[in-house]
Amino acid sequence: MIYNFHTNLKMSKSELSRHRSLHIQYQELSTEDLDSMDLSLLTHAKKAVRSAYAPYSMFAVSAAVLLENGQTILGTNQENASYSLCLCAERSALASAAAQYPDQKIKAIAVTAYSSRRPIDHPITPCGACRQVLREYEQRHKHPIRVIMQGASGPVLIFEDSASLLPLSFTRKDLPE
Ligand code: THU
Repeated sequence: MIYNFHTNLKMSKSELSRHRSLHIQYQELSTEDLDSMDLSLLTHAKKAVRSAYAPYSMFAVSAAVLLENGQTILGTNQENASYSLCLCAERSALASAAAQYPDQKIKAIAVTAYSSRRPIDHPITPCGACRQVLREYEQRHKHPIRVIMQGASGPVLIFEDSASLLPLSFTRKDLPE
């Protein structure tokens, strides 16, 4: 028997040989350490947070998408009295970018949030649905999308691609030809 520290379980050698683990790499930086591209995209997102429509959650989220042609496209969360129709900032920005510039690769997306109720000092990470949509654009353009995340203040997380945010993701490659 071998004790597995990750699962807190005792396992036989054969059980252990069937186990896989995933290693996800990302960076945690402070605002001062950001390079100019990341800082500029995050600043765009922070300025746009005021355009969020979030009267129900009072949690304003904003996303800035950087395209290969240098254009920055903004999106904010758009809520609805029928709660399940609320649209996240990331999907709002991605759809807008894809509608205006369908052939442009997406280089990066910065995500931030603001709440009048309490300071948001931790990074805001895309929800599961937004991660799936990010993966779609990554596959569509065969180009990694850098994901930069921060609250209104506090540490910044950076993932080099959205695949790292959604390991073992379902993509078009899973569908029959
Ligand atoms: N929200 C986003 O816009 N992006 C995220 O990544 C997480 C959540 C929005 C949806 C809803 O309008 C509000 O935040 C509270 O969940």
